[in-house]
Amino acid sequence: MEENRHVAVVDFGSQYTQLIVRRVRELGFFARLYALEEFDELGKPGAIILSGGPRSTSEEDAPDIDFGRLQDYGVPVLGICYGMQLLNIKFGGNVQASDHREYGPAVLKPKEQKGLFEGVSQESQVWMSHSDTVNDLAENCRVIASNQHGTPVSLQWGERYFGIQFHPEVTHSHEGLRVLKNFLQRADSLQEFRIEDFKRELLEEIRERVGEKQVVCGVSGGVDSTVLAVLLKEAGIKMRAIFVDHGLLRKDEGDEVQKNFRRMGVDIETVDASERFLGDLSGVTDPEAKRKIIGNLFIEVFWDSVGDADMLAQGTLYPDVIESASNAKTKASKIKTHHNRVDRILELQEQGKVLEPLAELFKDEVRELGMSLGIAHDIVHRHPFPGPGLAVRCPGEITEDRLRIIRDSDAIFISRLKDHGWYDKVWQAYVALVPVRTVGVKGDERSYEFAVSLRAVVSEDAMTADWVELPYDILRETSHRILNSVPGVNRVLYDVSTKPPASIEWE
Ligand code: XMP
Repeated sequence: MEENRHVAVVDFGSQYTQLIVRRVRELGFFARLYALEEFDELGKPGAIILSGGPRSTSEEDAPDIDFGRLQDYGVPVLGICYGMQLLNIKFGGNVQASDHREYGPAVLKPKEQKGLFEGVSQESQVWMSHSDTVNDLAENCRVIASNQHGTPVSLQWGERYFGIQFHPEVTHSHEGLRVLKNFLQRADSLQEFRIEDFKRELLEEIRERVGEKQVVCGVSGGVDSTVLAVLLKEAGIKMRAIFVDHGLLRKDEGDEVQKNFRRMGVDIETVDASERFLGDLSGVTDPEAKRKIIGNLFIEVFWDSVGDADMLAQGTLYPDVIESASNAKTKASKIKTHHNRVDRILELQEQGKVLEPLAELFKDEVRELGMSLGIAHDIVHRHPFPGPGLAVRCPGEITEDRLRIIRDSDAIFISRLKDHGWYDKVWQAYVALVPVRTVGVKGDERSYEFAVSLRAVVSEDAMTADWVELPYDILRETSHRILNSVPGVNRVLYDVSTKPPASIEWE
């Protein structure tokens, strides 16, 4: 039997490369992203995708690959944008440089609705992002689709090599997934990506690597660390899960996290360090100083509780690995700020004592894995919550009273979203304190109290975000309840800022 092969995506620097990997996995096949430097060592791919990139093939030191090596792999190849232009040059054609970047929608018109364009409409929208265009075509090259101006946007060389001048992986390319699927169908014995199989392999790997040793992991109640802890428990190894309460959690969150872990049969050790954190933060107003204090203290408290660990498990995800690989040009994984006593972790890493079982997965896949481990929907679909907690939602000084205002207002907002069926439609929602006292009326007197700001956003990856057009009745009900039951607030605002330029959090 022929062995299973993965889809190798070679990164030429496009902002969409991670998305290509995700889309291939969504189509049910295993895909991995490779830096250009790794081109000679793609293992045994079943198909290769050359991504787009910001550079021009006409530049002197333009990113390049060994064409002989590409041919040696002997599998179907799809070049996207830069990848297509590179293929055209390799096959003996030419590319015309241009200073003008074309960005946005175009019409895809396949010459024939077969092969790469099987089942694709005669005309559909695709998303272009390029400056150079192919000029002279190689002898064995066929134009298999053009745009509304008759410009070639898809080429084929022989039976195995394809190029497209648009991004099939973005949702603006309406039939892009179909094109990707058609391409993948040309490959033999592709490894399927099924979370159940993946889970089985992970469990075996964990058991094998850990054996009789004890593994320590930090949990926060968030999706990644929860899935990690449940996975370790499922593997049946010796483990300790440590939960540091830094006093900057949401209303009743500490109790909820403990209750949730009990529900899942995982014992956690809670370290209540809230007094230390709030003490050290007292009087500090600079946002960076606050983050630094929280980060450093967290590391100290966490490692003090760990003591002598045989091994450490971290909830590093695939995007963290890719990000650090592209920054450092190495495969070393990024260390989450949560427990980055860097020297200690690096030491453990060198000794092979750091376990990162989620490092091949995207967030959605971690959620899927969580579901397959039997973790409840409400836990797996919790909104993200930042490591420094409510500190980033409390500009200025952090006091118990200000935290109370944020906690009580936030609990009201989130409960309104849940009751109206909006919690799952929103990527992240919360309340921040606006530390400005504005005038209000209370009985016969004027009062000067704080404002709070509600924020609800949608986002695919937290890099960009848009505010959500919540129904007015939810906003009205939330505002009414906050103003009537949270002492110290006399004004409620709704944040209508996109990211960029605003960030999701306030600090
Ligand atoms: P920003 O505010 O940068 O947030 O637009 C993007 C996403 O990241 C979360 N966030 C953090 N998460 N440690 C974390 O673990 C942090 O220091 C941190 N700061 C922001 C934020 O909640 C949002 O989901």
